[in-house]
Amino acid sequence: MGRAKKVVLAYSGGVDTSVCIPYLKNEWGVEEVITLAADLGQGEELGPIQQKALDAGASVSLVQDARETFIRDYAFPAIQANALYENRYPLSTALARPLIAKMLVEAAAEHGADAVAHGCTGKGNDQVRFDVSIAALNPKIKVLAPAREWGFDRPTAIEYGEKHGIPAPVKKSSPYSIDKNLLGRSVEAGYLEDPWVEPLEEVFEMTRAIAQTPDQPTYVEIGFERGVPVTLDGQAYSPVALISQLNALTGGHGIGRIDMLENRLVGIKSREIYEAPALLTLIQAHRDLESITLTADVTQYKRGIEETYARLVYNGQWYSPLKSALDSFIQDTQQWVNGTVRIKLQKGSATIVGRKSDNSLYSDDMATYGAEDKFDHRAAEGFIYVWGMSTRIWSSKHSS
Ligand code: ARG
Repeated sequence: MGRAKKVVLAYSGGVDTSVCIPYLKNEWGVEEVITLAADLGQGEELGPIQQKALDAGASVSLVQDARETFIRDYAFPAIQANALYENRYPLSTALARPLIAKMLVEAAAEHGADAVAHGCTGKGNDQVRFDVSIAALNPKIKVLAPAREWGFDRPTAIEYGEKHGIPAPVKKSSPYSIDKNLLGRSVEAGYLEDPWVEPLEEVFEMTRAIAQTPDQPTYVEIGFERGVPVTLDGQAYSPVALISQLNALTGGHGIGRIDMLENRLVGIKSREIYEAPALLTLIQAHRDLESITLTADVTQYKRGIEETYARLVYNGQWYSPLKSALDSFIQDTQQWVNGTVRIKLQKGSATIVGRKSDNSLYSDDMATYGAEDKFDHRAAEGFIYVWGMSTRIWSSKHSS
């Protein structure tokens, strides 16, 4: 008896997920492997990948374009949440996992599979995100993770693959481990494992080196409705088109690189290089628009929610009761987050230079230092008297 009869495997076309196909069948007695490749805008040709899975022994090779859902249902809520893990990483890889998990669970139901599988190793966050998301969506289905158990290093994996008709990669293999989608690229491993060593320019694909960016700035105006970006320079874009367009624009000015050491859920620190030009710019713009449309208390309270939200997404709890409760809070706040943010793009920075909104809470006649000032300055005195009361009492008791 094998570990499962019919398995839907998340498939990327790389060596590891390809080797999973014969491995599941030959070592774990799986009768049928169905592969599922999700198009999340990684910019790879999925036609050849589809054939590759069949050549490696898959009985059915599914390819699904999930870009629209990815941006609308995963990236946009994260932008509304201003979600940055450890204050920096906009979760470009992490956001893809719950979606892929959902696609696996749905494909398994459709094809009558009793298990799903992924090619993650036992050291990363992605295995956690897959396993927990899958369990949340279907607590009965089995999850198989061959790469967590097989103990192959890369040459051994390639050798195992060759024995089972999977050709060794033709290109000299890159020293990096790269994850890529429409939101960004995550690059780790190789010499980057030394946190002191600067990444070579070859690491980057979506962002231009500062030396190669134009001297002249470009201005872009991003329009938001209910906290969701909908226009660029006044023109409406679909979610996918908006992200691609903004990636090209901001990446061309060298915006969106992050070099950071992060704390993985499994307890280790890892060094990661990220590129996420549009996503980072959108979070920055969105947060700025909130500063003019939300009250002080909501804005400040939301900061704590945002931090928790980012941690939940990072730690694989996209489908969880707490995340869902935070979503309700965030959605409620976003009804007011409408308007336009003006940004200057130049030499690696996206600087917000203007914002406007029909829901603006900014009050000229209260804020101004000019003659139109309507603020009652004398009223401040009584306010400060009461506000400072407890401090004054404390101080009179304790100062000598
Ligand atoms: N550290 C990031 C995360 O946990 C990205 C991991 C993606 N993998 C990679 N090969 N760089 O979301």
